[in-house]
Amino acid sequence: MLRVGLLLTPLVLVGLIPVSGITAEDSDAKALFEKRCSLCHPTSRPLGKTKSSEEWEKTVMRMKGYAGGRISDKDANIITVYLGEIRGK
Ligand code: HEC
Repeated sequence: MLRVGLLLTPLVLVGLIPVSGITAEDSDAKALFEKRCSLCHPTSRPLGKTKSSEEWEKTVMRMKGYAGGRISDKDANIITVYLGEIRGK
């Protein structure tokens, strides 16, 4: 029993990390971006652009509009911050 408890604890801790939302690790943001932003076009479409944070926000909100509920507010925020970091100007 003790052994099982020791094995599960790190898994629970790892599972809790994405709950922190916008401060989610880049790898989580990247995974989310790759999932949500490849629904209609390849991710090379955004990755080929450089935009200011405001421009990324506008773009992501427009994509969210197209996606009809498949991109949540929280997803949109995380992706906007992520793109501002890796493709900002
Ligand atoms: C529901 C379909 C759909 C999803 C999901 C989607 N896109 Fe798009 N995207 C489009 C369409 C349609 C266009 C071309 C029309 C336009 O630019 O508004 C486009 C064009 C683009 C462009 C080029 C135009 C520009 O403003 O620079 C970028 C960048 C882009 N998408 C980024 C994203 C990002 C980032 C995500 C994830 C948050 C995303 N897209 C998710 C449909 C989608």
